[in-house]
Amino acid sequence: MTDRADAGIGRFETNSIHTGDCLRLMKEIPDSSIDLIITDPPFAIGFKARRGNYNRTGARVLDGYQEVDPSGYGAFTSAWITEAHRVLKETGSMYVFSGWNNLKYILIALDDAGFVTINHLIWKYQFGVFTKRKYVTSHYHIPFVVKDPKRYTFNKVEHYPEDVWVIRREYWTGKQKTPTKLPLALVSKILRFSSDEGDLVLDPFLGSGTVAVAAKGMNRRYLGFEVVEDYCDFAQTRLEEVETGSAQQEHMRDDGVPTA
Ligand SMILES: C[S@@+](CC[C@H](N)C(=O)[O-])C[C@H]1O[C@@H](n2cnc3c(N)ncnc32)[C@H](O)[C@@H]1O
Repeated sequence: MTDRADAGIGRFETNSIHTGDCLRLMKEIPDSSIDLIITDPPFAIGFKARRGNYNRTGARVLDGYQEVDPSGYGAFTSAWITEAHRVLKETGSMYVFSGWNNLKYILIALDDAGFVTINHLIWKYQFGVFTKRKYVTSHYHIPFVVKDPKRYTFNKVEHYPEDVWVIRREYWTGKQKTPTKLPLALVSKILRFSSDEGDLVLDPFLGSGTVAVAAKGMNRRYLGFEVVEDYCDFAQTRLEEVETGSAQQEHMRDDGVPTA
């Protein structure tokens, strides 16, 4: 899909997704305009989209995932995280997904940009890649950071919300998919805790569009960028299948089984 000009958020229409490099597109978002960023950037680990990993059939995985050269990962990470800090409102917060390999670059860039870390969440998933001489990696790191630790949204929707989340990846048997799709239950949980209805949620590395899909279903506004056109089209198709506000009570179970 192509960009659509609009006055909603700078030149971007509210509730829209765009094909392109987020390093360029984020510069067109006005200062202090986003309530929440949830994002899962490329990890610079030489990820190949068509590998039949994560227990998937390679042929059904959409090709084209854009990786980052490991030698430039520090500069790349610093560039987008600096922009993330600029576009977030003073009351805004951000959740960044990262594998352990290049986590240090994310943590350094978050500190350098002026973010304050509130929690360092761990997501435990199933389908880690099989290994012979080391442990199977089956978790992601999710730093939860804010601009101002005295003023950020935190809806305490659970009595005792622990920082290790065991949430199953979804089974998409027989369907086309992108290689690194997050579970809706995981993104929905973040939205429940860290946003309210009508808030504006950004994902600069949209992939298959999970953040935008969850936001739309939960009556949040969304903006998303993805450099691979096929992925952006795939995300747009998913978005068109979701009614605004239709998932208020959905995706509540952490085991990856949809509740509706
Ligand atoms: C880990 S995936 C995101 C998966 C997503 N959370 C989902 O649920 O499908 C990272 C995505 O960032 C995209 N990407 C890489 N570099 C980019 C850039 N400079 N601007 C925008 N997207 C980029 C990749 O093509 C990939 O789809």
